[in-house]
Amino acid sequence: MKKIAVFTSGGDAPGMNACVRAVVRGALANNVEVFGIIRGYNGMIKGDITPLNSQSVSNIIQRGGTILKSARSKEFMTAEGRKKAYDKLQEFGIEGIVAIGGNGTFTGAEIFFNEFGVPTVGAPGTIDNDLYGTDFTIGYDTAVNTAIEAIDKIRDTADSHDRVFFVEVMGRNSGYIAVYSGIAGGAESILIPEIRKSAEDVAEILKSGFEKKKSSSIVVVAEGDEEGHAADIADKITQIIDVPLDIRVTNLGHIQRGGGPSAYDRILASRLGLGAVEGLLEGRKNVMAGIINDHLVYTPFHDTITMKKEINPELLRMAAILGS
Ligand code: F6P
Repeated sequence: MKKIAVFTSGGDAPGMNACVRAVVRGALANNVEVFGIIRGYNGMIKGDITPLNSQSVSNIIQRGGTILKSARSKEFMTAEGRKKAYDKLQEFGIEGIVAIGGNGTFTGAEIFFNEFGVPTVGAPGTIDNDLYGTDFTIGYDTAVNTAIEAIDKIRDTADSHDRVFFVEVMGRNSGYIAVYSGIAGGAESILIPEIRKSAEDVAEILKSGFEKKKSSSIVVVAEGDEEGHAADIADKITQIIDVPLDIRVTNLGHIQRGGGPSAYDRILASRLGLGAVEGLLEGRKNVMAGIINDHLVYTPFHDTITMKKEINPELLRMAAILGS
């Protein structure tokens, strides 16, 4: 393999730049030319592809976002779009790809590989930490740290005013950010899509806190929770609870996706970027590089997409005891 390409796709995540840097420098160290595809699969379809050298990735290890830009491509979901993308790769002589992204990115990569056989190795980049085949994804640690910084601030004002705050964090189908930021932020209750907890259950917890003279409480809600968004749950609880609580809602939103990556994410991204490119050059294809128990492993895209990474139930048990 003499020419490869790298791209970032789906929701951006802090550490994607550190990963791009590792891919580029890892390829160059093996005398392989590297191209950057701009805006993920959309750039592949359009041929928005540019050569990268060592200087192209200087001074980016500390930067949030992605220098290669990102997108969620509707066109790549069509057979015509994927054919156009394949033709563009051929034009540039690209023989292999490193894809940095999440579930949607690897779903696309697997279909593309089955249709055209272009070898692709993935590096897991998403704040959601919802990919099977790695303990942590690039960006998750930074997002959790952003969330707890916000929760700490909310706690100050909650305490001053004797209020209950519902804080919504990201995680479309995954409660990882909610569980870690909830535990680290000392939340009284945590709601996640993986475990059913009703508005009535939360009302009970808040009532018992009120009776124990807790002056303020924090409830962390993952955006994908079955009971609804934080605002809906707060409304329901206001209607059913029979103690006087002053409730407010804060949605942390996209600030969780931005900012410079933590040291943990920079190192993880560097290991996964180098692991992905070296895997590709060793002849691996259709797999995602991951770190499990501190070891580099490769998991088929099919498994990363279809298998569910469970949240350790011990963490949830602990959260319930310590938050009461
Ligand atoms: O997948 C990462 C993520 O931030 C999810 O947590 C969230 O549901 C989604 O992306 C939001 O996507 P968008 O920025 O496209 O609205």
